[in-house]
Amino acid sequence: MSFVDLHCHVLHGLDDGSPDLATSLAMLDALAGLGITEQCVTPHQKASQYLPDLAAIDAAYAVLDAARKPHHPTLRLAAENMWDDVFYRRAAAGTVPHYAGTKAFLVEIPPPLMPPNMRERLFQFRMAGEVPVLAHPERYHGLWDNDELTAELRRCCAFVIDLGAIAGFHGKRESKMARHLLEKGFAAAVATDAHQVGDIAQAQQGLAWIDKKLGHAATVRLFDHAPRAILRGELPD
Ligand SMILES: [Fe+2]
Repeated sequence: MSFVDLHCHVLHGLDDGSPDLATSLAMLDALAGLGITEQCVTPHQKASQYLPDLAAIDAAYAVLDAARKPHHPTLRLAAENMWDDVFYRRAAAGTVPHYAGTKAFLVEIPPPLMPPNMRERLFQFRMAGEVPVLAHPERYHGLWDNDELTAELRRCCAFVIDLGAIAGFHGKRESKMARHLLEKGFAAAVATDAHQVGDIAQAQQGLAWIDKKLGHAATVRLFDHAPRAILRGELPD
């Protein structure tokens, strides 16, 4: 197994993820145990809640990269961008934090409402050669019971499902939607979105569900091949 995790809050002291280096190292132990060999680190960039400055993120990344052990995954710096004023400004200026060295970036939206013109904006990103990666699409109320809108958005971005949601840890409706997205083929990839050590055992249960219901080839596609394709700048089918 050589999995690639596109979404995790393992950098310490920046958001609601790891509070300190010891926790980050314990998380990396558990992530390695899951079979992850490349870990993308995605601190929140969310106006008015968690908006650590980029110098603080770089510093936390340097500390963790220096402290990690040989059995730990390699790290790739990225961010979880909220679709808010800061994101709009950065998009206009071409400064949205991406997965380092790639054309892909991770974005989330507020669960209760779809941003105006989201489809058009995603299309524009695609036309510019970017790969928008939508975090936890199972949370977004506007996509529940709306496969038509889901399919339209999916044509312009990669859906990355939280493994914990698949296993039922993020709410019943979210679990139903996560499984629906997987079973209908809307999911591009899966990720841990781990904020603490315990989240990684929950992610393990999500992987077990995929193995059992969809087969191990699906696990390899969603947690190995597809994340690598995204980081190469491709939008998986
Ligand atoms: Fe997250």
